Amino acid sequence: MRPIAVYPGSFDPPTNGHLDIILRATHLFPKVIVAITDNANKYPTFPLKDRLKMLRESTKHISSVQVEFFSGLLVNYLKKKKATVIIRGLRAISDFEYEFQMALMNRKLNKGIETVFLMPDEAYTYISSSLINEVSRLGGNIKDLVPHSVEMLMKKKKKGV
Ligand code: COA
Repeated sequence: MRPIAVYPGSFDPPTNGHLDIILRATHLFPKVIVAITDNANKYPTFPLKDRLKMLRESTKHISSVQVEFFSGLLVNYLKKKKATVIIRGLRAISDFEYEFQMALMNRKLNKGIETVFLMPDEAYTYISSSLINEVSRLGGNIKDLVPHSVEMLMKKKKKGV
């Protein structure tokens, strides 16, 4: 039986790069759980419920994708979901050190879990959530960088609707 995969992240907001990784993961695993949490080292721009809504909306056409929140240790969440694979995206060498540390820590915490790294399309390698937030806040166009539902919600938020 092929394993269930979890793609964790803060997704603040989700970008086309995240979507690209989700799609690639669905080609490898029968079920992909996109698991949203707050990174203890970042102050979120969007509340969890907005991020859940944006991700559900932008993945609704992919039946093998489920979007949820989690809190606490990622390895405990995987155990609860009977998942054994963590998906992470690697955009550039600069991601590697942080990802390497997390993958080894997660393996130390649970030897039965493997981290699988996927590379997004090169068109998305320079995108990050904080850059999207900055460009949008300063009036730049984020149209080709985030899913349509994310763009709409960010516009509404800017207008204070
Ligand atoms: N396309 C575009 N951007 C991408 C991307 C892709 N494919 N992959 C990563 N990014 C960006 C994100 O937008 C984000 O940018 P930002 O820093 O500007 O916000 C950055 O890369 C990393 O974000 P993300 O992938 O969401 O990870 P994270 O570092 O916010 O989250 C967790 C890391 C949530 C997985 C980690 O903190 C965790 O597991 N927490 C649970 C507690 C735990 O178990 N801790 C021990 C871990 S060993």
